[in-house]
Amino acid sequence: MNPTAEKLKNKLQQALEVAFGKDFAGVDPMLVPASNPKFGDYQSNAPLSLTKKLGQAPRAIAEQIVQHLEVNDICQPPSVAGPGFINLTLKPEYLEAQLNAILGDARLGIALTKNPQRVVVDFSSPNIAKEMHVGHLRSTIIGDSIARILEFQGEDVLRLNHVGDWGTQFGMLIAYLREAYPAALTTQDALDLGDLVALYRKAKQRFDEDEAFQETARQEVVKLQAGAEDSRRAWQLLCEQSRREFEIIYDLLDVKLTERGESFYNPLLPSVVEDLEQLGLLVEDAGAKCVFLEGFSNKQGEPLPLIVKKTDGGYNYATTDLAAIRYRIQQDGANRVLYVTDAGQASHFAQVFQVARRAGWIPDNVEVVHVPFGLVQGEGGKKLKTRSGETVRLRDLLDEAIVRFRAYLEADLKEKGREETEQFKAHVAEVVGISAVKYADLSQNRTSNYVFSYDKMLAPLGNTAPYMLYAYVRIQGISRKGDIDFEQLGSDAKILLHEETELALAKHLLQLGEVLGEVEQDLLPNRLCQYLFELSQKFNQFYDKCPVLQADEPQRTSRLVLCDLTARTLKLGLSLLGIPVLERM
Ligand code: ARG
Repeated sequence: MNPTAEKLKNKLQQALEVAFGKDFAGVDPMLVPASNPKFGDYQSNAPLSLTKKLGQAPRAIAEQIVQHLEVNDICQPPSVAGPGFINLTLKPEYLEAQLNAILGDARLGIALTKNPQRVVVDFSSPNIAKEMHVGHLRSTIIGDSIARILEFQGEDVLRLNHVGDWGTQFGMLIAYLREAYPAALTTQDALDLGDLVALYRKAKQRFDEDEAFQETARQEVVKLQAGAEDSRRAWQLLCEQSRREFEIIYDLLDVKLTERGESFYNPLLPSVVEDLEQLGLLVEDAGAKCVFLEGFSNKQGEPLPLIVKKTDGGYNYATTDLAAIRYRIQQDGANRVLYVTDAGQASHFAQVFQVARRAGWIPDNVEVVHVPFGLVQGEGGKKLKTRSGETVRLRDLLDEAIVRFRAYLEADLKEKGREETEQFKAHVAEVVGISAVKYADLSQNRTSNYVFSYDKMLAPLGNTAPYMLYAYVRIQGISRKGDIDFEQLGSDAKILLHEETELALAKHLLQLGEVLGEVEQDLLPNRLCQYLFELSQKFNQFYDKCPVLQADEPQRTSRLVLCDLTARTLKLGLSLLGIPVLERM
């Protein structure tokens, strides 16, 4: 809750107590943002809920609360409305003081959390020897933004890349490479990821068709797991090759991750199974070791098992996640563990969480959350494919956004008769192209599917990255035009709010902290996008109505400060989405 709402809540609570006695000390004043800005900024709905308890009409209750409500320094005189709401409108003087207070603060008045939590964000997590796909892109973008927001709030965040770098597929791949491409197993850079992916496909085909090969592949896994020197080295080379390719994407996106792949947990897998056995949770079913789940059943209504050790003795994805959850809570000291993956993995996580909980590995004060997201679709809601029908490579997808914005930029510069250097154009195109992809993803409610459209995400108008970035540039343009150094406006600059649009902008500026608090809870970055979009709109309305450079003092300085605060809020908010601003574009 923002400090203003908090203050009002306390005042309402005091008034309730004075009006109706000690019994009403803890009553929730039910303070919410006004349903309609016409009625003010906040409203208390408490009178309606107290009618039974007090045996009075809601309006009468509201009147008595208002009589004892001491909010003179914050609000205009409160009014009772409708069936019995209390409407509260913030005073301009109060808003002016609040804005003045945040002016000199790099965090724009947003306090750091008082008790930092250790939060693990498990995101991105592509698989070795496979191409990183759009699902991983979503996870990377959403996970990074959530991590940035939590870090800004002061949480102690561990960004983990749970790379799929272990498992039976390596046996198959190594076995295949040994016969088809031995150099790849001993030489660095013999293959790039594209080749590796193609070879992986061939290996899989071979595996499915040839029984003898299956046996070779299995032996290869055993050798790898037993730590045979040359198998290990081959595995490492394969991982490095993929990793280099992933790094290119992370660099382009400016995303930092700590790699801790599935292989890390390999030594811990036997004890997961042993401990489940000790706890009496383990059942042997057709040779496999499993835990029967509560609330999950097959079509026949029989309970479903979560297999933790396969008939062939191998462990699987779930076993690794069980080991990981334990490690993150016990060794990393996590209070909150977030898993950012596609919604298709919801039941996997529900099952893993259930087993871990029943095993007593998730203490009550630890929260584990699957943070699901929907699909990225091509035009028409189909699977995203290239024109020739292949899956889209992430690098190509990002490059295309850059190329397209570059074309728009060139045309725009030409139209305006502006000359810019190659370096300028390349930089602007890259920042806007990448930002557009990120913003398009983040501005949707993550749980829904969305259609990937360059035209939409690169549009200079609308809820898009270019729109936000232009808004920022426009404000910097004001300072350039007026030859004003925003930083020199200083803390003695007085803010004066008279016009409707000034007040609306001021109120919105003061709400960033509240929005971030919400995102920290519900992990929906689209709320921040929406906030920033509305901020740009409110700024534009203000800028349309109120002259800035042409205004007389003291209005002029006050309005310049509003411009500066808007720019700084945009910059901060966008940075939490992983989007850098440009001074010119
Ligand atoms: N590698 C997995 C995939 O590509 C995602 C891993 C997510 N994290 C986890 N702890 N299971 O689908």
